[in-house]
Amino acid sequence: MLEIIKTRRSIRSYETKIISKSDLKDLLEAGMYAPSAGNEQAWQFIILEGDVLKEYLQLNKNVPQSAPFGILVCIDKNREKYKGMNTSKIDCSAATENILLLAHQKGLGTIWTAIFDNAMPDVKKLLNLPEQVEPFSFIVVGYSKENNKEIPERFDESKIHYNKW
Ligand SMILES: Cc1cc2nc3c(=O)[nH]c(=O)nc-3n(C[C@H](O)[C@H](O)[C@H](O)COP(=O)(O)O)c2cc1C
Repeated sequence: MLEIIKTRRSIRSYETKIISKSDLKDLLEAGMYAPSAGNEQAWQFIILEGDVLKEYLQLNKNVPQSAPFGILVCIDKNREKYKGMNTSKIDCSAATENILLLAHQKGLGTIWTAIFDNAMPDVKKLLNLPEQVEPFSFIVVGYSKENNKEIPERFDESKIHYNKW
């Protein structure tokens, strides 16, 4: 598991090939098994491909433009139990990370991308999202064109504190 965690890298260049339906189902299942505050599971998943994805990419230039496929993880405000505590965002973060890690274990490339505030209204309109559903992360999933990415050194003893600072 640590090997999978350490060798996962954000991929910014993709083949055009689309992932299989069974891989997609596994990824969504991984997302839905993430921990969540009070087990609220305040997430919804929207699969983006084809023409809709092309339009999405036009609205979000921060996403690799070679993205062939992706999963938009959305906050479901109707399910949020602890109002004002951002727990739904945290749930969606956990789901997003689960998906990244399983995809990497399957040999698929991914990148976690943001939805900036200025793109939000157009994204909601494009996808016909109801009021209570708010895009949180867009995960590109596909076959990487980048090989042998180096593992950066990130273990840092100075960030570890025992009992007191
Ligand atoms: C909340 C979040 C938002 C991110 N948004 C973007 C984004 O919009 N575009 C992008 O190219 N990368 C985005 N990234 C990827 C980061 O740039 C990347 O994770 C970071 O540089 C570390 O590299 P690594 O993922 O290869 O370890 C995002 C990552 C996170 C966690």
